[in-house]
Amino acid sequence: MEHSNHLSKTEEIERLRSAYQLLTEREQNLRVLHSFALNLLQQHTLQDVVWAIVKHAIARLGFFDCVVYLIDEERQILVQAAAHGPKNPHEMDIANPITIPLGQGIVGTVAKTGVAEIISDTSQDPRYIVDDDFRYSEITVPILDGGRLIGVIDSEHPEKHFFTQQHLELLQTIAAMAVTKILHAQAVQRLHTYQKGLEEQIEEQTRDLKQHIVELRKSNQDLEGFAYAASHDLAEPLRTISSFLQLIQRKEKGLSSESLEYMDFAIGGVHRLKRLLDGLLVYARVGQKAVIQKLLDLNEIMHTVESNLSQLIKEKNASLYYDQLPTVQGDDSGLIQLFQNLIANAIKFHHKERNPEIRVTCVEEAYRYQFSFQDNGIGMEEIFFEKAFKLFGRLHTIQEYKGSGLGLALCKRVVEKHGGDIWLHSEVGIGTTVYFTLPKPEYQLPS
Ligand SMILES: Nc1ncnc2c1ncn2[C@@H]1O[C@H](COP(=O)(O)OP(=O)(O)OP(=O)(O)O)[C@@H](O)[C@H]1O
Ligand SMILES: [Mg+2]
Repeated sequence: MEHSNHLSKTEEIERLRSAYQLLTEREQNLRVLHSFALNLLQQHTLQDVVWAIVKHAIARLGFFDCVVYLIDEERQILVQAAAHGPKNPHEMDIANPITIPLGQGIVGTVAKTGVAEIISDTSQDPRYIVDDDFRYSEITVPILDGGRLIGVIDSEHPEKHFFTQQHLELLQTIAAMAVTKILHAQAVQRLHTYQKGLEEQIEEQTRDLKQHIVELRKSNQDLEGFAYAASHDLAEPLRTISSFLQLIQRKEKGLSSESLEYMDFAIGGVHRLKRLLDGLLVYARVGQKAVIQKLLDLNEIMHTVESNLSQLIKEKNASLYYDQLPTVQGDDSGLIQLFQNLIANAIKFHHKERNPEIRVTCVEEAYRYQFSFQDNGIGMEEIFFEKAFKLFGRLHTIQEYKGSGLGLALCKRVVEKHGGDIWLHSEVGIGTTVYFTLPKPEYQLPS
């Protein structure tokens, strides 16, 4: 009796000792989990999170080795993301990551099934793949987001029967703790890649655009050079034709009245051609001249135009009203031509039954000013809204209204040279409004 009592006491002590050992072990594990949780909070990149798993969790639990794999969904393979132990030759630097197809070996099986496994004797498991050395125990736990596989934590040990159910629960806890951090880091990484792609795309498009602008400028310059030379060179033979026609008219006696009339038509034609060439010359010059980067008070431009046109304004009983105008950056002679052509048109195409009234307004927008020149003239049909801005684009016969059809083409050229747009709106019998924009001085691009 006494003997058995003694035995049961020894047993009791032994039981208490192992219970105490178990408790100490659990307490240690809890400490590891606690410090891992704190450490995880500070990790933000994907690399830092997976390395925290091996360095701050598994390594501290005293496991022989550990590899964390992440799934590459596109290729359907697991890729080594971090490692601790003999499979981690260099600190945080995996030159040739191990890759495992889904379903292959123990790791591949766990990835496919989503069920954690402990292999107590790998020599008995045909799925075991020898990596750097044969190890008899293995524990493999999936990292899951709900049912979706994110990765796998895998550890091996040289001794048989090393891993316990407690180890399995520990690794599952670690996987559960890390998963949201991994998902977040992956989302941030995808966002960065996307952003970088977008930036590269924008950069490339800007480069292309700049190249196009250079080419366009070059071809515009060529064209302007040609127009300038052509109008200049044509003026000379025209002068010759005109003077010889006049000479024949004066010197040749006995020309029939019919012939004399034809001569007049011919001379008239030559004069008209000369005016067209002069206009073309002015048009070509606007293009050739660089926009002078000078601050211009548009109120002053308006005063100049008003005084240039004072005779016409008086003659036609026209009234000109305008807002306080802003200051822009540009070329004064170009802007004078712009304002003057628009006001001259508004007066020229006035309605027979009323005196011309012209209202000039300016609206401030975020990056630019929008101007409008409104008249109460004859107006035009919508099909001419674009044609009116074309070179030599006239909607009336020369008998009805004099002119070459250059004014609005010139206006368009001046506005575009300053980085703005021009368009018009009109109603037959009511009037026409020409709109254009000019950038604010701080947004004016260098010419
Ligand atoms: N304010 C307006 N009201 C009605 N029609 C207009 C007005 N401004 C222009 N147009 C029409 O648009 C055409 C083109 O105008 P544009 O100023 O280019 O030429 P133009 O006045 O005929 O000739 P130029 O200006 O070279 O003397 C005009 O011929 C006219 O038919
Ligand atoms: Mg005109």
